[in-house]
Amino acid sequence: MTRVLVLQGPNLNLLGTREPDIYGHETLAEIHAALARRADELGIELDTFQSNHEGALIDRLQQRDFDVAIINAAGFTHTSVALRDTMLAIRRPFVEVHLSDPATREAFRHINFLQDIALRSIVGQGSRGYQLALEEIAGRFGDRDA
Ligand code: DQA
Repeated sequence: MTRVLVLQGPNLNLLGTREPDIYGHETLAEIHAALARRADELGIELDTFQSNHEGALIDRLQQRDFDVAIINAAGFTHTSVALRDTMLAIRRPFVEVHLSDPATREAFRHINFLQDIALRSIVGQGSRGYQLALEEIAGRFGDRDA
C-alpha cells in the first residue's frame, strides 16, 4: 500500500476562520477527514501532520516513513531553503498544494522554493487540490502490494 504523508505548514491549523475569502470555510480537520475517506477508497495509507514550526516539519519529513508526500508548506513555501534541502535529502517525491494561487497574489508569494522539485503543483483549487493530489499519486504509484 502506498503510504502518503500530508504535510501542512504554518497557520493552516486556522483554516475555517483564517481569511475565508481566500482559503475557504473548511477546517483542516474537515479537509483531512475527507482526504482519509478518499484514501480508503483508493487503497492509500494516509498520515497527516501540521506544524507552525519549520524544524518540526523537517523532523517529521526526516522520519521517511512514507512513500510520497502532499505538501502545503504555506508561508515557508516562499522562504525555506531548509525545507527544499530536506526534500532533496530524503529523496521522496511530493505533490505541492496551495489552496489559493500564490502566483496571482503579492509579489513575495511568487518566490517558491519547492515548485521546481515537486512532481506537480496544484494551486487555486481550494481544498479540492488535496483530493486531486491524492488521485494523482494513486494514478502514478498505484497499489504497491499489487
Ligand atoms: C498557501 C499560500 C501561501 O502563500 C500562504 O502563505 C499560506 C497558504 C495556500 O494554501 O494558498 O499560508 O500555501
